[in-house]
Amino acid sequence: MQIDVFTLFPEWFAWLQEPRHLVNTNLGIRPFSYRDFTQLSGRQVDDSPYGGGPGMVLRVDVVAAAFEGVYGMPAAEVRTHRPVIVMTPRGRPLTDAVVRELAQYDEMTLLCGRYEGFDERVHTVLANDAICLGPYVLAGGEIPAMAIIDAVGRRLPGALGNQASLDQESFSPGLGGGTEYPHYTRPAEFAGHTVPSVLLSGDHAAIARWREDHLGAGFVEDPL
Ligand SMILES: C[S@@+](CC[C@H](N)C(=O)[O-])C[C@H]1O[C@@H](n2cnc3c(N)ncnc32)[C@H](O)[C@@H]1O
Repeated sequence: MQIDVFTLFPEWFAWLQEPRHLVNTNLGIRPFSYRDFTQLSGRQVDDSPYGGGPGMVLRVDVVAAAFEGVYGMPAAEVRTHRPVIVMTPRGRPLTDAVVRELAQYDEMTLLCGRYEGFDERVHTVLANDAICLGPYVLAGGEIPAMAIIDAVGRRLPGALGNQASLDQESFSPGLGGGTEYPHYTRPAEFAGHTVPSVLLSGDHAAIARWREDHLGAGFVEDPL
């Protein structure tokens, strides 16, 4: 899989490209800076919003120039070849189902915003998807893009020692969308707090029942 990221901070993605992060996968990450493609003076990439108001808006012509420079085709055609996903609070939530869906593609493009976000025509002319990390506003799209890369990357063949564990982890259909049971390891007693005795019993059927009984409810928006 190849993931291209467009951002003002391509160097932030260096750690994700280190082989230690996702071992043995075929994941390739290419970070690109909008500034390397802008034709505007002073490497400008944004402008003030029509109609007034605070902040700056990332320009559609700058994003288009970046697409044409990287993909060598008209910018509006890129989305006919690969998912082009805008990071935005207006996007669809990044759920386990969305991660599974994205993991099936061979390549995708992630667009990170800053400031007030993108000119609307980035959404309507250049992109074909939009994703929101959660119901809060971050300073930029880089952390949502990294979350997608991490969550998708660990689903690729070779990323995990035991690929089957993907089917039995939190939010997976295998756990009915719930969260995993609690884990314990040595020591069996810590400051008077002991491990549930069933986990030390060697009775695999009883352990399976205990784990089933201790699955979490899933993502709880407001536990209080
Ligand atoms: C400060 S935010 C812009 C917020 C925008 N003015 C609004 O009120 O919705 C700048 C950029 O951060 C990214 N961003 C912020 N919060 C996000 C979230 N929850 N999910 C995905 N991207 C987000 C987007 O790329 C966005 O263009």
